[in-house]
Amino acid sequence: SFLPAESVTIGSGRSSRAAVSVADLRGSGSPARGGTVRGPVLTAKKATVRLPSGREIDAWTYNGEIPGPAITAIQGDLIEVRLRNADIEDGVTLHWHGYDVPCGEDGAPGVTQPAVGPGEDFVYRFRADQVGTYWYHTHHASHVGVRKGLYGTLVVKPRDADDQVDLTLPVHTFDGTVVIAGRDGRTEHQAPPGAPVRLRLINTDSDPHRIVLAGTPFRVTAVDGRDLNQPGEVSDVALRLPAGGRYDLVFLMPDTSVALVIDDDRDGGLRLHGDSLGEARDTSDLPELDLLRYGTPAAVPFDARHADRHFTMVLDRGVALVNGQPAYAHTVNGQGHPGIPDQLVADGDTVRFTVVNRSLETHPWHLHGHPVLILSRDGTPSTGSPLWVDTFDVRPGETWEVAFRATNPGIWMNHCHNLPHAHQGMMLRLRYD
Ligand code: C2O
Ligand code: CU
Repeated sequence: SFLPAESVTIGSGRSSRAAVSVADLRGSGSPARGGTVRGPVLTAKKATVRLPSGREIDAWTYNGEIPGPAITAIQGDLIEVRLRNADIEDGVTLHWHGYDVPCGEDGAPGVTQPAVGPGEDFVYRFRADQVGTYWYHTHHASHVGVRKGLYGTLVVKPRDADDQVDLTLPVHTFDGTVVIAGRDGRTEHQAPPGAPVRLRLINTDSDPHRIVLAGTPFRVTAVDGRDLNQPGEVSDVALRLPAGGRYDLVFLMPDTSVALVIDDDRDGGLRLHGDSLGEARDTSDLPELDLLRYGTPAAVPFDARHADRHFTMVLDRGVALVNGQPAYAHTVNGQGHPGIPDQLVADGDTVRFTVVNRSLETHPWHLHGHPVLILSRDGTPSTGSPLWVDTFDVRPGETWEVAFRATNPGIWMNHCHNLPHAHQGMMLRLRYD
């Protein structure tokens, strides 16, 4: 019952290249000079997993653990991961969220590959040329699979990385309890005063989280894996981390302790200890940092005002055809997946999206295969550092303008990263013609 990978002609009408199937748009077979091949075998299987709280849950896992094995690489390495499916009847894939892999490695079932059924396997291979904080997750029935635990972290460091304390912290909610912990499950860490610290936050949930780092000034040095230009020090601010999104927070460890507070819950979160304990404080009154005004402007490599293609996506709820049946759906331009027409682009195009949210819910919009540059929110232009993201949170009533260069041929999913919304229709495809 798994869908076959679809064939599409790339470049038809524009060049004399032969027809290419997405399944043939595969990653490079070798690392860069000096790099190595890295990557585990990931076996998708059901398991009983003990949460840091001690509670046990029935989970779907990679290798019996949540999160799955942390994949860490140095820029230029070749990442090679064999996915096996032991017993997830629905099938699984691996999608490298935010990583601009060749399309055949993207893990979109029915589009770039068939879902991997029980007893089957699939090898993913791509060069780790982008540094930063990313994550992987199943893209098949992802509204169930990711919630149940089919995800892990992907971090690519530059050769000269020098953060003494570098923690990768996926935030995930299990039965209403927010868990923020690295793979060791610890929510307390020691950090020597004066040490450079990097916290890599990853929102693996379908709703945004409010994040406060209390006890030290800090900088948001990267959003969705991409470095910001000259980000200034901030303190006493809250950050809103969209579903699927990542922030790298960097600071020098003070003498006193530092607390990472999620959703203003002072009892949860994570603590770093210096020489002495700081005071837990109420964070609920802190203003939200506006990333569209943060950091320093810099040139971007294309002129976003002159787009070759412009698509408007109006997000709403209503009755639409979903898999041929009328259903109450999350819609794009009044239609639900798979009935939403593909967006057609050509290699080299500058593409602009206008995303309008007419519904009463937040839609974290996510495009595969390409980072998008935020141009404006509700007519207010982005005036800080160029902000390249793969997911942006469109709140009720808002209109966002974003742009990107189409330089990664294939068929790419373009959807709401509130995964139940995507499942209920809010998903379409961007296709190179
Ligand atoms: Cu993180 Cu299409 O997904
Ligand atoms: Cu949504």
